[in-house]
Amino acid sequence: MNTEQEFTVTVADIRDIADKVVELTLVAADGEIPKWEPGAHIDLILGPDLVRQYSLCGDPDDHDTLTIAVLRETVSRGGSAYVHEHLSAGDTLRIRGPRNNFPLHDSESYRFIAGGIGITPLLPMIRTVARQGAAWTLHYGGRTRGSMAYLSELSALGDIHVHAKDETGRMDLDTILTPDPDTLVYCCGPESLLDSVEIRCAATWPAATLHIERFAPKPIADAATDREFEVECAQSGMTVQVPAGTSILAAVEAAGIPVLSSCREGTCGTCETVVLDGLPDHRDSLLDPQDTDVMMICRSRARTPRLVLDL
Ligand code: FES
Repeated sequence: MNTEQEFTVTVADIRDIADKVVELTLVAADGEIPKWEPGAHIDLILGPDLVRQYSLCGDPDDHDTLTIAVLRETVSRGGSAYVHEHLSAGDTLRIRGPRNNFPLHDSESYRFIAGGIGITPLLPMIRTVARQGAAWTLHYGGRTRGSMAYLSELSALGDIHVHAKDETGRMDLDTILTPDPDTLVYCCGPESLLDSVEIRCAATWPAATLHIERFAPKPIADAATDREFEVECAQSGMTVQVPAGTSILAAVEAAGIPVLSSCREGTCGTCETVVLDGLPDHRDSLLDPQDTDVMMICRSRARTPRLVLDL
């Protein structure tokens, strides 16, 4: 079964860093801050049914604090509104993680593309590659400069290109994504940006060049053809039928098998489960078709009539 460390932190500081963006500095209240790598995120447990994921945007070498930045969403599902309206310095919070679905791979050269609050997972990556001496550029888009967090810090680090929409319009992705076979592309931001970058990289860049992180679930194209399949849960010794329209997660929970979950829409990685036999049909926003040994059971299904899972 998947289990994760959960612990208490204290909000040491909360401050405005851009239009509608606050930065929270968290310190461990009971124990140590766990180690993390660039690209990692934590779950903030804000209430019984209010768990939200936020990228760590501090310095991975700072073992005393965790830093997150939270945009007040125009249409909040509760998480960003809670952070902006209810949290203040001195409050304690339960958190889970860190967890990393967006790791930084070794390369001599990187092209980072951020849209708005999508800068948060990229900031620790940029700090790291700048320290290592790798070549990098950042293209950072936003509504206005005032809405873009960490602009001055990034400018001090090196080669950044600011694309404020009210000054220069949208980023010209065709120019930004001129292919370079020795460069990795890392992108995070709104869906429209991710989709555009994905299309261009698929057309002109080598496979496995692009690494993206989604904050929202990918649409499912072929849900109408979903079929029932069988899941054998190896640890618990139970076999569960998963009908069309029901997730594996819901089916195993209904059978009394506890599974840790959070977003339940394939974006956070909490429900990652080892596949012992059978082929997963990945519907999440994290795994690729070649990842056949794990799956996100809140959203993904089966390519074979039967899966054996480490549950
Ligand atoms: S619960 Fe978030 S990916 Fe499954």
